[in-house]
Amino acid sequence: MDAPYLQVFDPSRFAPGSDRHSRAFLPFSGGSRNCIGKQFAMNEMKVAVALTLLRFELTMDPSRVPVPIPKVVLKPKNGIHLQLRKLL
Ligand code: HEM
Repeated sequence: MDAPYLQVFDPSRFAPGSDRHSRAFLPFSGGSRNCIGKQFAMNEMKVAVALTLLRFELTMDPSRVPVPIPKVVLKPKNGIHLQLRKLL
């Protein structure tokens, strides 16, 4: 997909005051049947990411670059493959 703005990590896209609609990214869906595990999943992810980044430096696997496919939410067609290098 040729969408250069998607090619960089830019958390400010959803910062307060951003002109992007707050529902432009809906990983947990929305409305009355959205994900009941959202709060748990967000907390679990923060803990998992923090503990991982304490111990490893992550880089993309150059041999398996994610290929984005347009769906209701963006998903890579081929998964996201990371390489972990132990820090401690
Ligand atoms: C990163 C983690 C997660 C993501 C991205 C995610 C995403 C979603 C999405 C998009 C839906 C709506 C599906 C639809 O519209 O048909 C959904 C529903 C649901 N999720 Fe999650 N989810 C996550 C984690 C969890 C966890 C940890 C739990 C439980 C502990 C959970 C329990 C559920 C349940 C029970 C529903 C169905 C709700 C209903 O139909 O009323 N999810 N999830």
